[in-house]
Amino acid sequence: MYYPEALVEEVRLRNDIVEVISGYVKLQKKGGRHWGLCPFHNEKSPSFSVSGDRQVYHCFGCGAGGNVYTFMMNYENYSFPEAIRALAERAGISLPEPEESEDVRRKENRRARLLAVNKEAAKFFYYQLRSPHGEIGCNYLRKRELSDETMHKFGLGFAGKNGTVLVQYLRGKGFRDEEIQEAGLASHSEKYGLVSQFWNRVMYPIQDIHNRVIGFGGRVMGDGEPKYLNSPETPIFDKRRNLYGLNYARRARSSNIILCEGYMDVIAMHQAGFTQAVASLGTAFTEEQAALLRRYTENVLLAYDSDGAGVKAALRAIGILRNAGLTGRVINMQPYKDPDEFMKALGRDAFEERIRQAENSFFFEIRVLEGQFNLSDPEEKTKFHREIAGKLCEFTEEMERDNYLQAVADKYFIGVENLRKLVTAYASRSGLARPVERPKSGVHKKGSPEDKAKRAQQMLISWLAEEPGLYEKVKKYLSPQDFTVDLYRTVAEKLFQSLEQGTMNPAGMISTFESEEDQREIAALFSVSLPSVETGAEKGKAFRDILLSVKQNSYAYHTAHMGTDMSALAQAIEGRKALEELAKTHISLD
Ligand code: CTP
Ligand code: MN
Repeated sequence: MYYPEALVEEVRLRNDIVEVISGYVKLQKKGGRHWGLCPFHNEKSPSFSVSGDRQVYHCFGCGAGGNVYTFMMNYENYSFPEAIRALAERAGISLPEPEESEDVRRKENRRARLLAVNKEAAKFFYYQLRSPHGEIGCNYLRKRELSDETMHKFGLGFAGKNGTVLVQYLRGKGFRDEEIQEAGLASHSEKYGLVSQFWNRVMYPIQDIHNRVIGFGGRVMGDGEPKYLNSPETPIFDKRRNLYGLNYARRARSSNIILCEGYMDVIAMHQAGFTQAVASLGTAFTEEQAALLRRYTENVLLAYDSDGAGVKAALRAIGILRNAGLTGRVINMQPYKDPDEFMKALGRDAFEERIRQAENSFFFEIRVLEGQFNLSDPEEKTKFHREIAGKLCEFTEEMERDNYLQAVADKYFIGVENLRKLVTAYASRSGLARPVERPKSGVHKKGSPEDKAKRAQQMLISWLAEEPGLYEKVKKYLSPQDFTVDLYRTVAEKLFQSLEQGTMNPAGMISTFESEEDQREIAALFSVSLPSVETGAEKGKAFRDILLSVKQNSYAYHTAHMGTDMSALAQAIEGRKALEELAKTHISLD
């Protein structure tokens, strides 16, 4: 562990998980837990639960889960040391210098070194742009009407023609060649050794939401191929999970976020005062980015290029936004190509007006469709109407679908009843009536004997955590060995130990597991709902049934795995007897 265990615990205890998560996710209390929309997958109804008692969270939809540390690591993209630092600061606890455990340090170091080398490179590019060598870059950016202030805000820079100065500079700052290479800043050439990856380009540092430089985009000045060169994916640069400009947009206090296609569009928009503009990173808009946007807004305005490629990209993005439960509207940039050109030509007020007129994404889709049909031909017109019916079927909520149905029927002069029939026909053909499938999580699989056994073990652990007092009553029947799932056995060992000591601390236990996978599973374990029963007697029976099921499975498992060992056989016979006794026992839970 990077910090002493007691300190890790103290920081955790001083950061109530409900309070911390409430800062990120809107939670509502229901039945002893808090519920909200999961920030880790796209959903429209809440399956993300946070338990104040146990200090864990768990999503019944996607299986994400853990304690407050896991949450910060996943939500903020922090490493463990970064998460503990953030939480310590939140609670006003000062941390000592971390212990120098080589192994953890190395892993942590790698990320920190990559961030550091990028930061140093960004500085280098920044100063180059403002030096005599960088004049050509400066002129290019000025020609594109960027002010010095804007260039400064986005940390724009310049990579010159000499490919070795950056490398020398970084070496001088103490970075090893491998680190420079791993960050994607330089590569090896036969002739010159290590040389800069970016050469004679203006440089756009790409920052994450914490303003850390995680990569670069470099643009040729004028025409030339490729127009942009981007850093490769690295342990700190995940193009699917970051958005250009989001570090500023998240603080823009705007009711919407404007999604653009390019770096230049974002920069031009910010310069004009639209500081809520962001763009994806040289790749198509992703689901992960939609989930990221959902943290900050419900309304996304698309400001994509008005050419064919832009329209296509917008249609894709609309689908992704819709799946994420976000409202998308499309800004019409005509007759200009993109926000950058629009802003230069017409300026801020005209764009403000375009925002007001932004088209509902459904109508945008229909309008694009319309262009593909010749509506004076009855056959084509019918096809167009069928396509509309198909699109309407994408709305899973009936009321919403019907509202759109009426609106689109009005707009395109289609008989409402005819269109409704068409939708019904289409829906039954495409199986719209089927419920939407939920993402799979191991916990929900049911059926096979192994699953039943697993389920019973989960329930038993969860129940003991819920009512620690039960432990005394059943401990003579139960040992950690009865848990045949490896992870559950480990959890049971720790749980029984703490129950013996009269302490019970699921969230603290989670910190003792290294792998995120394990943490997730344990949070799920402690979030299993118990059977709902009315009377004490029913409850006693339900509990006994679960215990019995765990014991039976354990007995079957151990007899199947005992081989020729005689003492094991004796144990098994003992087990058999205990089982019979247990079946007859009445366990009182009061
Ligand atoms: N892009 C890229 N590589 C290319 C071309 C484009 O990574 N060879 C990505 C960049 O993220 C770019 C975005 O796609 O910002 C949009 O492309 P484009 O509209 O061509 O670039 P702009 O940012 O608008 O730049 P400019 O206005 O300077 O042409
Ligand atoms: Mn562009």
